[in-house]
Amino acid sequence: MSRIVLGVGGGVAAYKSALLLRALTERGHDVRVVPTASALRFVGAATFEALSGNPVSTEVWDDVPEVAHVRIGQTADLVVVNPATADLLARAAAGRADDLLTATLLATGAPVVFVPAMHTEMWLHPATQDNVATLRRRGAVVLPPAVGRLTGPDSGPGRLPEPADVAALLDVVLAGGSLHQDLAGARVVVSAGGTREPLDPVRFLGNRSSGRQGWALARVAAARGAEVTLVAANVEDPAPFGCAVVPVGTAAELEAAMGEHAPDADVVVMAAAVADFRPTEVAAAKMKKGGSSEPSAVALTRNPDVLAGLVAARPEGQLVVGFAAETGDADDDVLGHARAKLARKGCDLLVVNDVSAGQVFGRPDNAVTVLAADGSATVVPAGPKDLVAAGIWDSVAPRVTTRR
Ligand code: CTP
Repeated sequence: MSRIVLGVGGGVAAYKSALLLRALTERGHDVRVVPTASALRFVGAATFEALSGNPVSTEVWDDVPEVAHVRIGQTADLVVVNPATADLLARAAAGRADDLLTATLLATGAPVVFVPAMHTEMWLHPATQDNVATLRRRGAVVLPPAVGRLTGPDSGPGRLPEPADVAALLDVVLAGGSLHQDLAGARVVVSAGGTREPLDPVRFLGNRSSGRQGWALARVAAARGAEVTLVAANVEDPAPFGCAVVPVGTAAELEAAMGEHAPDADVVVMAAAVADFRPTEVAAAKMKKGGSSEPSAVALTRNPDVLAGLVAARPEGQLVVGFAAETGDADDDVLGHARAKLARKGCDLLVVNDVSAGQVFGRPDNAVTVLAADGSATVVPAGPKDLVAAGIWDSVAPRVTTRR
């Protein structure tokens, strides 16, 4: 349980802060909401008080005997401002303390995360960009805004990320993971999920990959400034913020999508579980069991190794990251098998999952080792998948060269 201050700026996206508050309290955190006076024109104090179970105040003149303007910031483990308007970013960058939220931002030693939301023109204005650069230079996390529908008919960068994305990223910051902009300007292509190889119009050969680790890798890369394309094989979850999603079904479709998007990328991450074989024949109509009690054998054909193809075709300077789910056996242990796979596949880095106990698929937690072609091995300890994703990017980001 952490003590979180949820600052709310005065933009229409303030309504989403109620859902973020809910996501944080469901994780067991004690949340104190500090809205600006304008935020309360969009969402009432009663909503924040009921959902947080804590009193809500806006001005430094409230709770004077408690010296709330200093105490709230001093006792916080994390301060998140969601949404952070252009005005709030400007006041924070200038070090103003003209209401309870800005005073709290000055008084806190805890990590601070700003989640901006505003119209595209306001986000791109040099004044806002300078304020964002100032806040980041001082150590605050300022998430890039999502791209999409804004209030009214316009659309572009400036949309508030969805509460589920923000909550997952706050897990990273609370656990000491990095969300700094070390992937700014990098183009990243991530594959995620599991391919499905049809037998007939209703049946397929598939696997148990949930896509969650790939989702987390894409989301954290976007939060760290990358332009992300997510090639998603059979994942129903909503697209993570900041990512363009290309849905695919089969290994052949995944190979085609990677072939289209990978050539321009600085980093390619193959987190998808790709079927090694597909049924040789796909029945045009649903296969019937017929009168026989004997099942008919299914002939299989080898699928292309997409990762090996990407390695063979990679442009100069591109980093290729593979994944491997391994178990130890009589021949070798998990890392031994993984080192052999890294050499066989020819990629720069291999993220290794030990699935001996079968406990990774579909679970929120994960633990991996990142092996590099230069022989190094970095352990990323067990944690929520977004924290593991941040640990993986810590290994990958210093090796990325932006080719634009
Ligand atoms: N992969 C791929 N195309 C395939 C199979 C796997 O691109 N047809 C990629 C996966 O996305 C992953 C990596 O290769 O990044 C390792 O996958 P894995 O299934 O462990 O590798 P295999 O070569 O199939 O090894 P094994 O012999 O252990 O099955």
